[in-house]
Amino acid sequence: MATFEVESGAPLMGEATVHPAKNAVLPIITASLLTDGALHVPDMPELADVRALCELVGECGCDVRREGDGMTFQTRTPTLPSSAHAMRCTRASVLIMGPLLARLGSARVTMPGGCAIGQRPIDLHLKGMAALGAEIVNRQGFVELRGTLRGGVIYLDLPSVGATENIMMAASLADGVTRIENAAKEPEIVDLAQCLSAMGAQIQGAGTGTLVVRGVKRLHGAVYQPIPDRIEAGTLCCAAAVAGGNILLRGARPEHMRALLFKLQEAGTVISEFPGGLRVRGKAQWPMEVRTMSYPGFPTDLQAPMMVVACNTPGTSVFLETIFENRFMHIPELTRMGASIRVEDRVAVIEGGYPLQGAQVGCPDLRSGAALILAGLTAEGVTRVEDAQGHIDRGYERFDQTLSSLGARVRRLP
Ligand code: EPZ
Repeated sequence: MATFEVESGAPLMGEATVHPAKNAVLPIITASLLTDGALHVPDMPELADVRALCELVGECGCDVRREGDGMTFQTRTPTLPSSAHAMRCTRASVLIMGPLLARLGSARVTMPGGCAIGQRPIDLHLKGMAALGAEIVNRQGFVELRGTLRGGVIYLDLPSVGATENIMMAASLADGVTRIENAAKEPEIVDLAQCLSAMGAQIQGAGTGTLVVRGVKRLHGAVYQPIPDRIEAGTLCCAAAVAGGNILLRGARPEHMRALLFKLQEAGTVISEFPGGLRVRGKAQWPMEVRTMSYPGFPTDLQAPMMVVACNTPGTSVFLETIFENRFMHIPELTRMGASIRVEDRVAVIEGGYPLQGAQVGCPDLRSGAALILAGLTAEGVTRVEDAQGHIDRGYERFDQTLSSLGARVRRLP
């Protein structure tokens, strides 16, 4: 539970350091279940989703130790999780499936309850496990899997990030070679593959549509630092494109952010890259067309923040959300702030350039919440984002402090 109060103010100035990526560290935490060795992450972001997943892997027999900025994970004797509660706290809980099945020969996950942005099925995860030889039973709201895994060939109907990660982890200890066709290509997939390789896995093709995993008998511990968060960095780029100014994002990896950076440059924001980060200057000037796609397309996680840029930019912008079926929940809240947005199914048409009005708004999901804080940066009057579910802290480490350090007038109410 948190409430953020935002007032419009001066353009953003200064520099911020990008934290390690939420969507990279979460699968790496579950990968620690694959070995009895110690997996050390030197710098772990402080996020509610990380805490929730650490609690869950702890229920699976993993010894989780916080050591300064880092964490160490060691699973000498893996077990099936007992409580459904820990499995429901984060969507990433589904990622214990592959590691437990590979290490224990059995796994149990809750049927996904879906979440705000969509139904979030796991059929592709299960299709992959079945192709590796698992037997699957739905029982009392749980999905139970068992079997000794052998290599197989899987075609993913959709380049699902989570399914690619689960299958890659399961295949790393399967007997034989596994090929995943139409695999997801996100940087977080490559990062997980690199971490698994550091643990002794044999993986080729990560980042391409065809992933090949040659199973090994066992994996060992490793020290691995995940990549910086391209979505946090992208959200801050959008903040600068909304409020104007000149900010430096230390640690940002432009090569992971091409779609966003091109779109912002087309809209008139000046982006300069340098070893170790990037600089963002000036408000967006021109309307845009954004179509969310799997990587390397425009990331769905930046659709809401980018729509706030469009609200502040004169002209007609068009957004098409192709990944999730219900990812426009920021729109009713933006409309309460005076935004002019028409929605037809998965298409949103924004008439931008009209000043937004500060208002009391809700926080329907993680990225919508961040977007509404960005909307408050230029709205007339005070905006209060009421994050009753604590969404923002799930995916951004001290987001209010990061923005305040750049000169934004954002504060977390006690
Ligand atoms: C990951 O979710 C990210 N989460 C999401 O970030 C991100 O939006 C998403 O990938 C897309 O990039 C983590 O990495 C923890 P998918 P994931 O499987 O793996 C459908 C955030 O804000 N699908 O690639 O759940 C699914 O319904 C979060 O940080 C199936 O139909 O995404 C969706 O429409 C939100 N069957 C599409 O595929 C399946 O078995 C993409 O889902 C699996 C997915």
